Order: sequence, then C-alpha cells, then structure tokens
Amino acid sequence: MRIYDIILKKRDQLELTKEEIKFFIDGYTNGDIHDYQAAALLMAIFINGMNERETIDLTEAMMKSGDVIDLTAIKGIKVDKHSTGGVGDTTTLILTPMIASLGVKVAKMSGRGLGHTGGTIDKLESIKGFHTSLSVEEFIKNVNEINIAVIGQTKNIAPADKKLYSLRDVTATVDNISLIASSIMSKKLAAGSDAIVLDVKVGSGAFVKTYEDAVELGSLMVKIGEGMGRRTMAVISEMEQPLGNAIGNAIEVIEAVDVLKNSGPEDLRDLCLTLGSNLLMMANKSDTYEDAYSLLEKQLENGEALKSFKTFIEGQGGNTEFIDNYDLLPKASIIEEVFSPIEGYIESIESDDVGIASLILGAGRENLDDEIDHSAGIYILKKIGDYVTVDEPMAIFYTNKANVLDDAKNRFHSAFKFSKTPVEFPKLIKAIISKDGVTKF
Ligand code: URA
Ligand code: CA
Repeated sequence: MRIYDIILKKRDQLELTKEEIKFFIDGYTNGDIHDYQAAALLMAIFINGMNERETIDLTEAMMKSGDVIDLTAIKGIKVDKHSTGGVGDTTTLILTPMIASLGVKVAKMSGRGLGHTGGTIDKLESIKGFHTSLSVEEFIKNVNEINIAVIGQTKNIAPADKKLYSLRDVTATVDNISLIASSIMSKKLAAGSDAIVLDVKVGSGAFVKTYEDAVELGSLMVKIGEGMGRRTMAVISEMEQPLGNAIGNAIEVIEAVDVLKNSGPEDLRDLCLTLGSNLLMMANKSDTYEDAYSLLEKQLENGEALKSFKTFIEGQGGNTEFIDNYDLLPKASIIEEVFSPIEGYIESIESDDVGIASLILGAGRENLDDEIDHSAGIYILKKIGDYVTVDEPMAIFYTNKANVLDDAKNRFHSAFKFSKTPVEFPKLIKAIISKDGVTKF
C-alpha cells in the first residue's frame, strides 16, 4: 500500500477502505508518512468528505493509535462527559459529583486549559492540596470506593489525533464534521467509559455555527459511540455567550460550589441537570428523562451532591474548608469594576473574546507549560437581554497584573454587541440526540 494512492483515491472522490485508513493513521503516527502527505489527504477529506463507514473506521484507527484504557476493574457502568469547547464551562465540577452521589461511577480523564478555553484540572488546582497525579491503582480504588476520581490526560491517548489536530490547525481543515467527530470520539473511546454524554456547543462562539451542523455532528458521534458498543447521547447547547457568570479558575470553582449548594446561575444549573439526566438514563438509574431530572434536582436540594464533591476533593488531597469560606481560595490583588462603553440591550457576547480577555488577566495560558494565575478571571454581571448603562458595572476583573488591564478591557468590550430594542435571553438546550433520534426542545 502507498500513501500516494490513498491521497489520489480521496482526491478523486472515492471511498477509502478500512485497511487504507488504518495504513494512513498508523503510518502518520509512527512517522513513516510525512506532514505534507497527511495535509494533502486531510484537504481531500475536507473537500470530498467521508461517509459514515469511513468516519467510524477513522475513529477506530485513531483510538487504537495509542493506549486504550481498561476500566474493567471498576464495577458498574462508568460514565464520561465531553464538551466540544466552552468558555466559563464549569459543568464537569458540578455534574460529576451530582451523578456520583447517586452511585454512578465517574472515572474521568480531564485536561488543562489552552488558549481561550479553560481546563477542569486547572480549575480544581485552585483548591489547596488538590492533585490529579494518582496512580492507576489509586484512581481505580477511588472510583470503586467513592464513585469519583479525576486524572490528567495520559500522553499516549490517541496520539494520532494529537498530531493530526496540530496539522489541521495550520492547514484550514479543522471544521469538517467527520474530522471533528473522529477526533473527539477517538479520545473518549480510548478513555474507557461505558456511557458518554456529549455537549455539542452551537453558535457564534462554537466551531459549529448552525443548528443543522450541530445536529449532524452530534448524530454522527452518537452513531460512532454506539457502533463501538458504548452508550452515547448528545446535547446540543447554545453558546452565544459564556456559561454562567464566572470565567477563570478559583472563581469558577466558587460558581460550581454555589450550584452544588442549590443556588448559582440558572443556565449552568440547567445544563448540568440536562447532561446528568442523560447519564442517569444510560447508567440505568432512571427510565425517563423527567424522572432523572427530578432525581438530580433532589441531590442538589438535599446536599448529597455537595457531600460527594467534598469526598471527591478530599480523596485527591484537597482541603475542603474553602466550601464554607471562599476567602481560602487564591485571591487577586486587583479587583476592578468594568463599565460599558455604550448604553443598550446586550444582543450577543462573543465567548472567545471573553476567554481571551480572561487569559490576558492571567487565568489562561498560551503554551501548555505557561504558569497560570488561579485567582485571575472575569465575573460577568450582565448577559444577553440585560440593559446596560454607562455608569453601571457590567463585569468585575480579577488580576495581579495592573499593566494588562487596558488590553483585557479592550478585548472584553469587543465581545459585546448591543441593541436599541429588547433582546430575549437565548434558550440554552436546543436538542437531545440518542440512538433513537433527535428530540428538539
Ligand atoms: N475538539 C477536538 O478534540 N477535536 C476537534 O477536531 C475539534 C474539537
Ligand atoms: Ca462559568
């Protein structure tokens, strides 16, 4: 087999065989196939597409390019959640203990933030003593005993995706449904869970911009997951603005704990309950969505979800006194109110720009080995539909660097579009996709 012939075939709009796809992925992972050849094939795939069978074969080849985690030592159904990329998205911190409090096993592999998106591990490391460097034995022990553990991504999960994703990033081949679906699902499948819920973001701040594309992506990922023997569902959620109010690390931990205390922002709470309800159904804990939803609401009301969060943090060395005293979390030396440049109703908030403004304040990193400031971030006081005047604060900035404030403010302001007429708060949950089809909300 020759890579040249595979590129030629896809260039001429022909279907690739399973063997050809595997040859490409294995060869590219071990360095036999060069970047320029892979780039040419990616562009041919981007332009001519892949059918469902090809996409499933691509996913499987990428999943098997590295370690496939074996979680069989954990009894019961193991669940996982993945988001296609949000800003201020604290759902994992809330959803996982909520689910674990009902006896569902959460064996989660999470990442760090890069660019304008935050990472679950960075957020959790705002908590004194908390660490994710568990051995596999400790990880499995914690999940078996307390239903929940989070570890960092191991190096060797879907290495083909790591290489291909970097290449797609610089060759204008990221936003293709088959390539996105196989990229996400290869990693999720390699992480070893039995049931996966996917949060597919749609809107200006997401990389799928239309509802139709989001449904296509969600349906394809559900098909891939189910085809590989894992229960899989997808929630299509709106991303015309950041989720909740906090964007950062320590301040997002506070926001998550607020929800676990049965308060906190309504949109964030609703998304957690929706994703969680799907997981409960897949874990055979409820028969209907409505039952699952009210079961989870009860876990927030009766304090069980918060208790599970506490056990989880303690299980990984964290000090949980901050739950009753947020002052024990890292605190910024500069806390500054930010005002709107003009009056009007907020029409949209470009999440990426808010994410970058927060990164400029110190909450994020440009390169994976950069230090981050856990105390830095942005608390948004006004969201879509709110009326803002020029003498009322629209956000609070947290930072330790006075010299970046102007830069961050400019970036933040550029995220907002205003309207002279009233604007409605957008509906968050657009659809739920299961193997049986799409339920539109
Ligand atoms: N996230 C991924 O992991 N892969 C993609 O291709 C897009 C988003
Ligand atoms: Ca948030």
